[in-house]
Amino acid sequence: MGINNYINRITEGNCIELMQNIENDVVDLTITSPPYDDLRNYKGYVFPFEELSKELFRVTKPGGVVVWVVADATIDGSETGTSFKQALFFKEIGFNLHDTMIFRKKNPIPQIYRKRYTNEFEFMFVFSKGAVKTHNPILIDCLHAGLELNGTTYKNYSKNEQYREKLAKPVKDKKIKGNIWEYVVGKKLEDQEAKGHPAPFPCELVRDHIFSWTNPGDVVLDPMCGSGTTCKVAYELDRNYIGIDISHEYCELARTRIKQIESTMKLAL
Ligand SMILES: C[S@@+](CC[C@H](N)C(=O)[O-])C[C@H]1O[C@@H](n2cnc3c(N)ncnc32)[C@H](O)[C@@H]1O
Repeated sequence: MGINNYINRITEGNCIELMQNIENDVVDLTITSPPYDDLRNYKGYVFPFEELSKELFRVTKPGGVVVWVVADATIDGSETGTSFKQALFFKEIGFNLHDTMIFRKKNPIPQIYRKRYTNEFEFMFVFSKGAVKTHNPILIDCLHAGLELNGTTYKNYSKNEQYREKLAKPVKDKKIKGNIWEYVVGKKLEDQEAKGHPAPFPCELVRDHIFSWTNPGDVVLDPMCGSGTTCKVAYELDRNYIGIDISHEYCELARTRIKQIESTMKLAL
């Protein structure tokens, strides 16, 4: 057994057991989301977080990335803080906490008022095994592109050289996107295919991460792939995927979605 038995397949089973068959240092990117604080009862399945995070460290290539999308349940009036505890554990076992990003939902689920503001985001912790090897930054338009600035720039602010030297250049056309990413959840046609699952990723969120942290031909893993969003998007972007889920029903849903994208892409050729 080795990675070749899992490449470009959805495999049904417990990710902890199946990942043991995968070699060290072979995965470029993992994008996944665990069952949050048992918020949703996935047909009674549990997942042992510490074992999984250690397996993720082992299979990730040096310079590879894990994107861990997570939020906390509120239990007895308090958020659990599990997301933070998990992030710190990833650090303890050797990952860098490369970036704490936010997934903001443009259409959050309305909540019963409990003297707090509507919860509208999840964390996207970006961990890396050593220094990140691939980053294809997403660029966005600058609001004031082309604007001539009258002021001057600091020579090198971070090195305490705080004297002003030369005139600032005009504002560029493009800049690197910020780390709060916003998506509509569950409304787009491509996301509605996943409605047999209670918590699918928006395809666009996965697309943005796969583009950012990998190149074509790289290996993308989702050890709890649910409706298969990570795998479907990896296929679409010409990356290799490994999908694992413990539920037969979700594996079937993931396989159906991948077949659909395969035939759509073949028709487009
Ligand atoms: C938050 S959902 C993932 C949804 C997914 N990101 C998507 O786009 O559909 C978590 C998934 O973990 C799966 N799961 C829970 N424990 C597992 C385990 N030990 N091994 C593999 N999958 C597991 C559940 O069946 C569920 O589909």
